[in-house]
Amino acid sequence: MESMGNLSRTHYCNDLGVENVGEQVTLMGWVLRRRDHGGVIFIDLRDRRGITQVVFNPEVNPEVHAKAHQIRSEWVLAVKGKVEARPGDMANSKLKTGGIEILVDELRILNVSETPPFPLDEDGEVSDNLRLQYRYLDLRRPEMSANLVIRHKAVQAIRNYLNDNDFLDIETPMLTRSTPEGARDYLVPSRVNAGRFYALPQSPQLFKQLLMIAGMDRYYQIVKCFRDEDLRADRQPEFTQIDLELSFVDEEQVISMTEGMIKVLFKETLELDLEPPFNRLTFDESMDRFGTDRPDMRFGMELVDLTPIAAECSFKVFRSIADKKGTVRAINAKGCATFSRKELDILTDYAVQFGAKGLAWVKMKEDGEWQSPIAKFFTDEERAEIAAATDAVPGDLLFFGADSSKVVFQVLSELRVELANRLDLLKKDDFNFVWITDFPLVEYDEKEKRFQALHHPFTAPKVTDIDKLESDPGKVYSRAYDLVLNGTEVGGGSIRIHQKELQEKVLDVLGIGEQEANDKFGFLLRALELGAPPHGGLAFGLDRLLMLITGGDSIRDVIAFPKTQKATCPLTEAPARVARKQLTELHIQPDWKE
Ligand code: AMO
Ligand code: AMP
Repeated sequence: MESMGNLSRTHYCNDLGVENVGEQVTLMGWVLRRRDHGGVIFIDLRDRRGITQVVFNPEVNPEVHAKAHQIRSEWVLAVKGKVEARPGDMANSKLKTGGIEILVDELRILNVSETPPFPLDEDGEVSDNLRLQYRYLDLRRPEMSANLVIRHKAVQAIRNYLNDNDFLDIETPMLTRSTPEGARDYLVPSRVNAGRFYALPQSPQLFKQLLMIAGMDRYYQIVKCFRDEDLRADRQPEFTQIDLELSFVDEEQVISMTEGMIKVLFKETLELDLEPPFNRLTFDESMDRFGTDRPDMRFGMELVDLTPIAAECSFKVFRSIADKKGTVRAINAKGCATFSRKELDILTDYAVQFGAKGLAWVKMKEDGEWQSPIAKFFTDEERAEIAAATDAVPGDLLFFGADSSKVVFQVLSELRVELANRLDLLKKDDFNFVWITDFPLVEYDEKEKRFQALHHPFTAPKVTDIDKLESDPGKVYSRAYDLVLNGTEVGGGSIRIHQKELQEKVLDVLGIGEQEANDKFGFLLRALELGAPPHGGLAFGLDRLLMLITGGDSIRDVIAFPKTQKATCPLTEAPARVARKQLTELHIQPDWKE
């Protein structure tokens, strides 16, 4: 192995072009590929920025050429040489540096490498576990390092925007108390306070409210949050929020401020000009039309309410559901009457997976007839009404859900996206934002037999609904808003309660009595008595935004060191066992076997 000695890098591997022909340059990087073409050795040298072809010619420099013979993939090199134009037919128009190569006259082997556990120069299938175990190799791959570069640009753009708008970047504690987002906490035992635990924050919610009470006026933080919940493609146990809070604002100001931020974000990362204001739907409208509070707005296929027709029809299943105050709804898969029996069976299984008891369908035939297992239950008149309501024409395929609205919404909203997927309607470069507003403040939890906050307990109810808090809490709407992008919730927030009496009333609705309230959030309640300004804010999921910006399928691909589905890190092998002694120090007596 050699040192860099007096060599110092003059360019990155993506910098050079035909305009540099004739210059002496020094590059440093990794060997992506090595080809031996009848004596002449070609190496693709790679660094963070890109690739340059370097050439070892035995006729020009036999000594360096001989040394180049031993080079293998992923060795670390420094090369010095002259930039030459590639002969016309050898130019590679796919590479930015494809018009040139470096004729090497000095080579230093800075380090060798064993053969990597998976090839870095091709897209072959590599198991996720192996990729995470050797994440530093995985990140050498251009598509992965590009994600980290975009992430950096995104954070930079966001910071610039918020700094320009008078936000203060203020850190909040990681060792703290349970926060109110409602997931399970990650706990940290205290050594010096036996039997006590810190919780890692699920968000900085309470601290940012305290910062408003402290007069900081506008706060932001790009901050890690921790939630011990079931993981999915868009959920990690630790993830990053762009967290904001503003004083003396209402919904409109928070929304327009953050639309400005999203605009800058997309401009700086994708050079895309979004045009806020974004569309808005109330929660009720979103549920009614899409069956979900995170609708994918890139396509139509809306849910159509057929309950009134169903109530009169002779199909018993539909009729009894309508009688029981359930709902019967349909979606129209345009042009899908060609679906095979097998495809319909697969879609039915899909629906059943989300709680459906069946999935009635109708193929609209050219002669206007129905091809359907339920055709016989409907009169000509009813068929015409259904066709009119669903905008169905020959060639279309209708799917029906009949059940409680909860089940129908769940089933048809999932089916809608699955169909869009099959029909290739989900274009990744189509960014369709929608704000969901006017959420119910609380929802009844049948299992726990009490009301739960839909957002969190510090969200303000609509001023006009406050008088219903005691009499009919389920009918109270809140001042919360979510931002949804292509079916993913990318952000959420609310105007907060800033008066103690109202806060206590809401906690009471949630079944959190005075003692529990004081125990968990006493510090906030006290602060509300000492001059809390009106305030509100929101938090974006940075990883989710980046997943959508980069067109990825999982937030893992935009996180340098993510965790697996089981919340482990194959690289460091966290979580790990610890010595008994450490546990004793922490006053923990383990009941598990090593
Ligand atoms: P909320 O709980 O809605 O609100 O979180 C805000 C946003 O964070 C993202 N997010 C996640 N991303 C990746 N992995 C996870 N496990 C995960 N959980 C949430 C989502 C979500 O929209 N304190 C409030 C915000 C506020 O009221 O200001 C909060 O945390 O994109
Ligand atoms: P059945 O009369 O049970 O054979 O059902 C006739 C058709 O209605 C089948 O295609 C079922 O999949 C469908 N079906 C049954 N129950 C429901 C339901 N609750 N919602 C939607 N379709 C249903």
